[in-house]
Formats: sequence, C-alpha cells, structure tokens
Amino acid sequence: MSRADVQEAVAELAVWRHRIDVGYGVVTPGNEDCEAEVHKLALPVDLTGRRVLDVGCSDGFYSFTCEERGAHDVLAVDDFSSLMNPERNGFAIAAELRGSNVRFQHRSVYDLDPDIDGLFDVVLFLNVLYHLKHPLLALEKLASVTSPGGELYLKTYFRRDLRVWWRGRAFGFDWTRRPKLWFFPGDELAHDPTNWCAPNLTCLDAMLVTAGYRRLEHLRTAGDRVYVRATRS
Ligand SMILES: C[S@@+](CC[C@H](N)C(=O)[O-])C[C@H]1O[C@@H](n2cnc3c(N)ncnc32)[C@H](O)[C@@H]1O
Repeated sequence: MSRADVQEAVAELAVWRHRIDVGYGVVTPGNEDCEAEVHKLALPVDLTGRRVLDVGCSDGFYSFTCEERGAHDVLAVDDFSSLMNPERNGFAIAAELRGSNVRFQHRSVYDLDPDIDGLFDVVLFLNVLYHLKHPLLALEKLASVTSPGGELYLKTYFRRDLRVWWRGRAFGFDWTRRPKLWFFPGDELAHDPTNWCAPNLTCLDAMLVTAGYRRLEHLRTAGDRVYVRATRS
C-alpha cells in the first residue's frame, strides 16, 4: 500500500470524529483531540494482559490506544445510533489500515451479557451516557461485564443544578446536592435529537453506586463534561 492508497481509503469517509494515525504519516481528519482526552482520563499507560471493552467506540481511537498499550483483547461496540453513517464507519477503515486485532461488534450497550462477553478489566464509556434513554440500565449492563476490582472510565455531559450566566459564561452552584436527571425528549440539548438525558454530579454518582461501582473518582470537570473513574464492587 502507498501513502496515496491510505489517503484514498481515509477520504472514503466524509466525516471522522477521531484523529487516528493510520500509517504512512496519515492521520484521519477528526475534530476530537483524543490524545488530550486520554491524558484527562489518566488511562493506564500499561494495559498488558488486560481485557478492555470500549462502548460507543465510534472511529475507534480509544480501542486502538488500548491495543497499543498492551491489552490482550479489546472489544469495541457501537450501535451507530448517533448521527453517524451506518453504511460507512471509520472504525472498519482505520482497523484495516492499522492491521488492528480489535474486535468490533455492531451492538448496543443494552445487549452486553457476561455469559456471552465474559468480564473486562477496563471498560470505556466515553460521551455515550447522555445519548441514552435508559442510563441506569446501561450502567447496570456495564457493571455486569466489569470484573470485580475492574475499572470503568466514563466521560459524560452533565448539568449543574443552578446555572448563572455572566459575561457569556455559565456558572453553577449546587446548593442541594439532590440527585437530578434532566430529560430531553426532543432536540433541546444542542439541537441533537440523539441527546436524551443529563445527570447532575450527585445523580451520576448515585447511579454508578446503584449499578455496582464504588471508589468513584471525579478526575476532573472541563466545561460541561466530567471525567470519572470507578471501580467495580
Ligand atoms: C458522542 S459519540 C462518542 C464516541 C467516542 N466514545 C468518543 O468519546 O469520542 C457517541 C457514540 O456512542 C454510540 N452510541 C449511542 N448509543 C449507544 C448504545 N445504546 N449502544 C452503543 N453505542 C451507542 C454512538 O453511535 C456514537 O458512536
């Protein structure tokens, strides 16, 4: 394969989300700075021998990164329910160009089953929660396939309880700390009909604990996103 062949393969997909190195100096033209996200998540540098599940993998950057970091089995799943082209997805192109062994399955988080999938040491759930009508069910499904002591890395949109706008910026103050989940039946959130819900941080923690996770660490918040690491009970 030549550099021109790689560029041609990458150009087959009109819209990439992730910037992925696919060899010959070619990087897919995604708009997400995934390297920075990996840093914010404090994803372990060494995943040697660990089983990894990446739910809502999109073009696959995070799955490929885990493979690079030594994971011995990586399963990437996505149901393409967001605004992606179900006919062509970046994962297949990037995996082929990289010669990756990551397994991709076109499935929903709701279909995860420990009897079929086994247990995973590391589970990635990045920017998916707010796309779900049934967020608690999804977290329970994730917990069901996370091995005891295994880790969930989650990033999601979240809502502050009280948002005060000043000079074009939003500031929030959570006086009550009651768990709340906002529901968006239409396209109220960012004009995107695939956005369904947003928890406040108290609700996110409560759902994670209810689903079976403990030792919740808010790694950071950045704007309206929170980065969480949680351990399976
Ligand atoms: C905003 S993108 C995030 C992609 C990637 N995880 C990232 O952080 O860059 C959300 C992804 O989750 C997928 N998704 C949404 N609902 C899903 C579900 N029920 N099961 C599996 N994947 C889902 C979408 O198809 C989309 O690829």
